[in-house]
Amino acid sequence: MTPMAKYRDDAAALGRLVEADRVHRDVYTDPEVFQLEMERLWSRTWIYVGHASQVPNAGDFVTLAIAAKPVIMVRQTDGTIRVLMNRCAHKGTKVVSDLAGNAGKTFRCPYHAWTYRTDGTLINIPLKEGYDGTALKRDNLRLAPVRNVETYRGFVFARLSEEGIGFRDYFGDSLSSIDNLADRSPEGELELTGGCLRFLHNCNWKLFVENLNDTMHPMIVHASSAGIAKKLWEGQPADRPKPVAIEQIAPFASDYKFFDDMGVRVYAHGHGFSGVNFSIHSSYSSVPEYEAAMKRAYGDERARKILGTVRHNTVYYPSLTIKGAIQSIRVARPLAADKTLLESYTFRLKGAPDVLLERTVTYNRLINSPMSVVGHDDLHCYRAIQEGLAAHGNEWVNLQRNFDPAETGATELTANGTSDISMRNQFRAWREFMAAQ
Ligand code: FES
Ligand SMILES: [Fe+2]
Repeated sequence: MTPMAKYRDDAAALGRLVEADRVHRDVYTDPEVFQLEMERLWSRTWIYVGHASQVPNAGDFVTLAIAAKPVIMVRQTDGTIRVLMNRCAHKGTKVVSDLAGNAGKTFRCPYHAWTYRTDGTLINIPLKEGYDGTALKRDNLRLAPVRNVETYRGFVFARLSEEGIGFRDYFGDSLSSIDNLADRSPEGELELTGGCLRFLHNCNWKLFVENLNDTMHPMIVHASSAGIAKKLWEGQPADRPKPVAIEQIAPFASDYKFFDDMGVRVYAHGHGFSGVNFSIHSSYSSVPEYEAAMKRAYGDERARKILGTVRHNTVYYPSLTIKGAIQSIRVARPLAADKTLLESYTFRLKGAPDVLLERTVTYNRLINSPMSVVGHDDLHCYRAIQEGLAAHGNEWVNLQRNFDPAETGATELTANGTSDISMRNQFRAWREFMAAQ
């Protein structure tokens, strides 16, 4: 008899890991829980695949993993985007190894050269007569499609499970953050540019996702980077132009009141953002040429509204996090319970002056890249949590700050910025999708 798995075979034990205001350490450390997360949470929800501007021409592709399964996002000759399993129908070889490129008209498996159209249909098997009279049925052999794919303002999402929650129901009004990012282009369109910064984190994916709207940490964790930047600039005359590094790094060292007053908003299914009222991105220097282009495109009032929305981080649970006000996104690609690949991307706002892109790319390198001076502060803590959770004497992780039992079940709620509500909200979604059906 196979021994009973601790969580897979015991739904009640899995459910007990997450309470309304605290979670058991196993959600971050247990390989079985991680495997279940891939099969349930990451397969039943809408996961960010990539941006349409990464594959502008027919045959353009990017490869990645969703729920630890290799997939290809590829532009078709009819202009649509498909997502296919990156698995040869012959012996299972990953057909495409490159991270991005152009396939031309076909994908050819590197092992025995079975060849597929970019829509996944099989078009050639070498020496195919060898299968005459066998049970092989060519029509059943293809690169398996992911059938549930949606593109929203260029952001491509996929849901691996055949049945499940619809795209709009899943994201609801949280899509307003993607709208704000795309609306910041005078043409209403984004182009992903500047490549991808990949940063391997030796920690559970949730530590990163939770941290984005944890506003009790920046003034502590980033004292050594942002705190120094702030001190360096103290006493400077107000009309002295700020170096971009000071402008972007120093606000991380804002005080508790600043972050509390920022506000946080959560939506059903784990999504949410901080920076309801203002954020660390509010006081960037103005670019008159850009503002004029926005006013021409949208009219004064709407342009002011778009540029006045400066949300801090929006989490599209569980995979995508965006910063509209600085046009950068970070994507979590979980590899193991204690290993997560983070991808950081930047966007060009179509129709905006180049200085906007320069600002974005500088931000991404200063804050998010493997050679940043800010992101490492966070990584130090993620690793310290991952190691600290092995200790005895306390099995629980506390999420009680500003907990109000009435928040459970709300589909949209705004709270003070230093509340742990966004983390509790993420774990409510976690429970929802992790429950076996
Ligand atoms: S495994 Fe792909 S052609 Fe044989
Ligand atoms: Fe941080």
